[in-house]
Amino acid sequence: MAEQAGGGISNVMREERVFPPSAEFAAQARIKSMEEYEALWTQAAADPPKFWADLARDELHWFEPFSKALVWNEPVAEWFVGGKTNACYNCVDKHVVEGRGDRTAIIWEGEPGDQRTLTYAELQTEVSKCANALKSLGIGVGDVVSIYMPMTPELAIAMLACARIGAVHSVIFAGFSAEAIADRNNDAGAKLVITSDGAWRRGKVLPLKETVDEALAKSPTVEHCLVLKRAGDAPTMQEGRDVWWHDVVDSASADCPAEPLDSETPLFILYTSGSTGKPKGIKHTTAGYNLYAKKTFEWVFDHRDDDIYWCTADCGWITGHSYIVYGPLAAGAQVMMYEGAPNHPAEDRFWDIIERHKVTIFYTAPTAIRAFIKWGDDLVKKHDLTSLRILGTVGEGINPEAWMWYHRMIGGERCPIVDTWWQTETGGIMMSPLPGAIPTKPGSCTKPLPGIIPSIVGTDGQEVDTNQGGMLTIAHPWPGMLRGIWGDMDRYEQVYWSRVKGKYLAGDNARCDEDGYYWIMGRIDDVLNVSGHRLSTIEIESALVSHAAVAEAAAVGRPHELKGDAVAVFVTLCDAEPTEELREELRQHVRKEIGALAVPDDIRFTSSLPKTRSGKIMRRLLRDIAAGREAAGDTTTLEDYTVLAKLREKEA
Ligand code: WTA
Repeated sequence: MAEQAGGGISNVMREERVFPPSAEFAAQARIKSMEEYEALWTQAAADPPKFWADLARDELHWFEPFSKALVWNEPVAEWFVGGKTNACYNCVDKHVVEGRGDRTAIIWEGEPGDQRTLTYAELQTEVSKCANALKSLGIGVGDVVSIYMPMTPELAIAMLACARIGAVHSVIFAGFSAEAIADRNNDAGAKLVITSDGAWRRGKVLPLKETVDEALAKSPTVEHCLVLKRAGDAPTMQEGRDVWWHDVVDSASADCPAEPLDSETPLFILYTSGSTGKPKGIKHTTAGYNLYAKKTFEWVFDHRDDDIYWCTADCGWITGHSYIVYGPLAAGAQVMMYEGAPNHPAEDRFWDIIERHKVTIFYTAPTAIRAFIKWGDDLVKKHDLTSLRILGTVGEGINPEAWMWYHRMIGGERCPIVDTWWQTETGGIMMSPLPGAIPTKPGSCTKPLPGIIPSIVGTDGQEVDTNQGGMLTIAHPWPGMLRGIWGDMDRYEQVYWSRVKGKYLAGDNARCDEDGYYWIMGRIDDVLNVSGHRLSTIEIESALVSHAAVAEAAAVGRPHELKGDAVAVFVTLCDAEPTEELREELRQHVRKEIGALAVPDDIRFTSSLPKTRSGKIMRRLLRDIAAGREAAGDTTTLEDYTVLAKLREKEA
């Protein structure tokens, strides 16, 4: 088993503080006590399909009822078989039909300060027009649409428009490179790309359309490109291929009923890093995912009608899918959406937004919290944050001291913190405190949600004892579970279902303490968590090796104050000189191959890499060197002892 990447585990091991919800908070909560939570969890665990089926009947709109809750042929799950529903209908039309059309759906703020509010009825109109425009571009059930857009309402509208007509969206985070877009277009066979002329980021315009143009030169399956005017740039529009949003969407009819779709109709693909160089297209389907996003949103954020809910993620990641779009909108929430950087025009932009919009629920990432801490308390104190009632975190473990700062400075010691553990693959939150019921311990994601049965196992597949670390698995399928890797069911089976029989392998190590609280201890594979984003070391290595000067490369994570993991790479060269210019060139090369988020923080040139006799790179040693630690542990299998000495010398 690989060691955990990143740091902080020793802190977590010693954490003993417990923060129960206040009596006042608990009294008003959906789930009011540990006893209530435990009763619900036990009831769900006794018969998960029945538990979920009862919820599905009540919570989703069914054009046709389902006949069977779950058909499970490991590793293929089908939920709510025989039923017909539509995720867009559940998120939009259902509220309008039930008389809540005037309720605010999206409160949006652009980075330059422009604002827009959409009610559920207005959202229905916009989504319907967009859906008709997609149809006019030849998109129908099962067609894949790549979306590469800034965080504007149109991004959510585009996702929902796809869902409305049964097209499968594949949102690509707008920081990815042209190469990465082309790879994803080709893997998914995308027919359409939706983008914008540009995106605002720290007062500058990122030329998204230009990047898409470069990608489209290598994306033979893409027939059209739909372009939103956002930043005022004048991109080249290719005749016959590219169309403006304001030309085709604005003039489209607003009459486009949601398509009744089989429960298992693919809803979206979202690419994420695994332990090989090729990102995996994680596939989610309609009914199960939609139900899971909705219920977990309501439970974890204890959602009430008067809440103003803000998740700071980007829709390019799963958090944006489940907790900006599908979960909150299905629950009829009032969703705050912000386009830009947290430090523009100043480092208190988030606190300013919370104060002005009276945000009540705030969901962000530990990497952001670490930046806020660095930016200083004075900026926070300038603002009135008393509207807040719940805080959340996601993406990586939170260091207990960052947790305490969040609790004190942002939460005023009054707001429960929900530390939510989940993954792109799980579709929604799997473990988290329920804020009115479960006392929190800083650094622990506490307990599984109802219907979720975790099991920590050793390498022999047997459950480990209390407080023993092991591989985190989930013992029974749940509705939000991924349904496969796009176009590669073998890899799906191999990655998630082959190592531990009968259980979903999450890829994280964890332990469960004597109170039944779970503590996530980092990945079991070579996946790094850089500012809350998953990156595989092999992806970075492949990018480096594709440069002519590079013979061999090894990438490892090194603990980093803000990012969690920083990317450190060790590179051996062909004939080239190890210069500062080359180092910069390699940085630019990785930026071009993957995107800015993968650019290595450290590049070290070395004459060779430490390897075992069987030729495997000894990453453990490289991790120690990258972190500036003495290389510990067994080195007797090291093929060339001098390599280690040389790498250490460079350190000195
Ligand atoms: C990590 C993000 C500790 C974990 C929703 C997981 C966490 C990976 C937490 C999934 C948390 C996410 N505590 N670790 N609360 N949340 N992780 O697919 O390693 O981008 O496997 O999904 O992030 O990252 P992904």
